[in-house]
Amino acid sequence: MTDAKTPAITCRNVWQVFGSGAKQALSTALSGSGNDPQGAADQLLKGGFIPAVQDVSFDVAEGELFVIMGLSGSGKSTLIRAISRLLQATAGEIRIEGEDIVAAGKQRMIELRRNTLGMVFQHFGLFPHMTVAENVAYPLRVQGIGRSQRMAKAQEVIDLVGLGGREENFPRELSGGQRQRVGIARSLVTDCKVWFLDEPFSALDPLIRRQLQDEFLQIQAKLKTTIVFITHDINEALKLADRIAIMRDGRIVQIGTPADIVLRPADDYVREFSKDVAKGQHAHVRSVMQSGPDAPVAGPDDPGLKTGMTLDAALARCMSLYEPVPVHDDSGAIVGTVHPADLAAALQADET
Ligand SMILES: Nc1ncnc2c1ncn2[C@@H]1O[C@H](COP(=O)(O)OP(=O)(O)O)[C@@H](O)[C@H]1O
Ligand SMILES: [Mg+2]
Repeated sequence: MTDAKTPAITCRNVWQVFGSGAKQALSTALSGSGNDPQGAADQLLKGGFIPAVQDVSFDVAEGELFVIMGLSGSGKSTLIRAISRLLQATAGEIRIEGEDIVAAGKQRMIELRRNTLGMVFQHFGLFPHMTVAENVAYPLRVQGIGRSQRMAKAQEVIDLVGLGGREENFPRELSGGQRQRVGIARSLVTDCKVWFLDEPFSALDPLIRRQLQDEFLQIQAKLKTTIVFITHDINEALKLADRIAIMRDGRIVQIGTPADIVLRPADDYVREFSKDVAKGQHAHVRSVMQSGPDAPVAGPDDPGLKTGMTLDAALARCMSLYEPVPVHDDSGAIVGTVHPADLAAALQADET
């Protein structure tokens, strides 16, 4: 049973180690290092194993858009393959809507893949001899749903991804961006509850890519599916994510909101990612303000800052003020205080 508090995804101490006899090697390495993940990973590497995912733990809330970001080879694809059980994790606990899927049998995994888990990869593997509509409807055909019902459902998601009018085209007659849309539609046709996307837009031109990101956010707002989205592009991550997990060499080095990542990078690796990001446009007043009831009351000098305002916009309003100013929520109520100097300091942090 799930309730509102059950995370859509739970991972605890997940390891994915490649190499023959990896399970035994991992448990030896862990006990040899006194359960220190770093020590165990070093030992595995020395033994010729590849510890692609090391001791990863996080929760994804229902309806959350969780982005995993990291350089190529940092273990992102391996991690979502382990979570979706395309790979059998070497160690750790993985739950989808509370259900232990490491223990799920083959039949149960088939059901979950058909009904609960949606997957989109960079290369979609569309069937070349099937039309757009047939490709999109394919997962329903596998479920044994009759033709007219599956075509009606396919039409719904084809319209949702903006491919109306292309139903009878074959993949070779489509552009790269249109083919990505077919893949997205195909993964949505089963009303999946947890949706995994592995760099779905990475091969596209920047303009098409931005357009698909915008449409993707609209689809998410409509469907409210739980999403794990992989990218190596910090701007894509900041634009889409509720929270971002940053991976390096198989480990998660930081999990946080876009503002956390930009304003409070955990180490130099994260700082390097966000170096070229315009902080003022990605961080909001709420990440800098002091919340609390002892806020100054609104007066004639209240510059009208809102929690969701960007730092740039906020600073523009109170640049000439020297006293703490109130911060309002969307309804206008005062929920905190910010000192204009703190806005400026947040924008300048780490700049050289
Ligand atoms: N099936 C496999 N066998 C051995 N090594 C693998 C396998 N799959 C991935 N790896 C290795 O695991 C590491 C992480 O790869 P991957 O998860 O694909 O990274 P990313 O998706 O972040 O680019 C890399 O060193 C890669 O070479
Ligand atoms: Mg990858």
